[in-house]
Amino acid sequence: NEIRIFSPATVANVSCGFDVMGFCLDSVGDEMVIRKVERKGIHITRIEGFDLPYEAEKNVSGVSALAMYDAIDVDFGFEIEIYKKIKPGSGIGSSAASAVGSVFGMNELLGRPFNKTQLTEFAIKGEALASKCEHADNLAPAMFGGFALVKSVSPLVILEIPSPEDLYATIIHPQIEIKTAESRALLPKEVALQDATTQWANFGSLIHGLHTGDFEVIKNALHDVIVEPHRSKLIPYFNEVTKAAINAGALGSGISGSGPSIFSLSKGIENAINVKDAIEKVYAKTGIDFDIHVSKINSKGIKII
Ligand code: HSE
Repeated sequence: NEIRIFSPATVANVSCGFDVMGFCLDSVGDEMVIRKVERKGIHITRIEGFDLPYEAEKNVSGVSALAMYDAIDVDFGFEIEIYKKIKPGSGIGSSAASAVGSVFGMNELLGRPFNKTQLTEFAIKGEALASKCEHADNLAPAMFGGFALVKSVSPLVILEIPSPEDLYATIIHPQIEIKTAESRALLPKEVALQDATTQWANFGSLIHGLHTGDFEVIKNALHDVIVEPHRSKLIPYFNEVTKAAINAGALGSGISGSGPSIFSLSKGIENAINVKDAIEKVYAKTGIDFDIHVSKINSKGIKII
């Protein structure tokens, strides 16, 4: 009647895949307990880690849980406990982890009536509460693991993209908060055809490189000419970090989701650690607090623990 889950952090956009691509991390994630109870409805009974609303309608986990609860006909309810480890506004899918956690857990307790795509559809409602827009590029990798491509939101179509075994991410999180909604408001409504051409050439190459495990192709694909020029201004020392990462051997670096976190991808854990050391050196001089870690790509996604 009760289940404990690990709901992972994720990196959205992956440079050239704004709003359609993301990957899943295995070193950071929230824990949640979902419990079947007699009292009907959705009840958030405990939140630890960060100050978030207990009212289900105002809480990302609660909103996705309510979307699923409305779609089922049961004479019992669910309690949700949230042990939040991913800082809201850090750019590694904090709201997505909350949004998928409740529906994944409820589905398990119900005997899995819904598939992962259907669960992600409920979770989109929760994610929209946080970012004021229905996007699934953090939800899909959190739910499916690995790299996930959101082919379309309506109808929701998610493609699981394979990736080479020895691909690692280094994530630095400067301790400033950037709200996704605000960071989206900065973006232009129209883009130049030349930029669009560059972007889809890069994105197609990224997909090809991930499929074939060709690190050279992945490296040449990790560029963003559309979103990063606008958003990087919000992130202190962004250019210095990406330069240091490349010099230390990273395949590429970019803004994680809507920032302020910055991700780098590397071949092998040793490179990823060198990249971490190099970025740490840059940031240590800035006086801005940060945390930084290396993570393997999490191929499983959300799971019962
Ligand atoms: N694709 C979204 C954005 C991810 O960049 O706004 C935010 O979590």
